[in-house]
Amino acid sequence: MIIAIDGHAGSGKSTIAKLLAKKLGYTYVDTGAMYRTVALYVLRNHIPLEEPAIVKAMENIDIYLEDEKVYLNSEDVSDLIRTEEIGHLASQIARFKEVRKILVNLQREIGKKAKNVVIEGRDTATVVFPDADIKIFMTASQQVRAKRRVEQLKQKGFNVPYEHILQKVIERDKLDMERKESPLRPTEESIIIDTTDKTIDEVIDFIIEIVKKKE
Ligand code: C5P
Repeated sequence: MIIAIDGHAGSGKSTIAKLLAKKLGYTYVDTGAMYRTVALYVLRNHIPLEEPAIVKAMENIDIYLEDEKVYLNSEDVSDLIRTEEIGHLASQIARFKEVRKILVNLQREIGKKAKNVVIEGRDTATVVFPDADIKIFMTASQQVRAKRRVEQLKQKGFNVPYEHILQKVIERDKLDMERKESPLRPTEESIIIDTTDKTIDEVIDFIIEIVKKKE
C-alpha cells in the first residue's frame, strides 16, 4: 500500500504523514527532507546555485532516512535542515530536472523495499508513485499556514514577524507551483483536504477511513 501525500508548506502534511505512518505501522518517507539535505550540503560547501555544479556535488552526497531521522553522509542533520533558509534554498534547488531525477530514483528505491509506505512531498502522487493506492493533496489558506509557522518558530525561541513569514509562504508557493519541473498540483484522483479549519486528529481519522476501505 502506498499513500502519497502532497501539498503546500505549512498545510500540516508532514505532521499528519508522520502520525499516520506511526498509527498504521507504515514506513515514512519525507521527500522534502532529501531536497533540504542537498540544500544543506550546497550551502556548507559553497556550491554555486547551478544545475551542473549541484548534480556533480550529488556524487558526494549520501542521503539516508530512518523513521523521522535524516542522515547526510552518516551525520544526523534532522534538525539542521529545518531552517527557513534551508527550506527556501531547497525550493530553488528543486527546480532542477537532473537533481529531481536522482532524488526521485532514491525515493522509488525506498518505496520498493518497504511493504507499506506513507510518502510526502510535492510530486509523490504525480511523478514518484503515479500508481499510488491513495493520493492526498493537502492545503490550507496562506494566512493560516503563516500563522502556524510563526507559532512553530516561537516555540523554538524565534520571534519572526507574521508579515515576513506570510511573504515567505507566498514566495514558496509560487516557486513550487509555477516551476516547469514537477510543479505542485493535485492529480485527477487526488482527495483534496483543506486543513484550514480542521484539527490534526480529524484529518488523520478521515484518511484512516479511506485506508480501511482500500485494505
Ligand atoms: O516539504 P518541505 O518544506 O520540507 O520541502 C522543501 C522544499 O523542497 C519544497 O518547498 C519544494 O520546493 C521541494 N520539494 C520538492 N519535491 C518534493 C519535496 C520537496 O520539490 N517531493
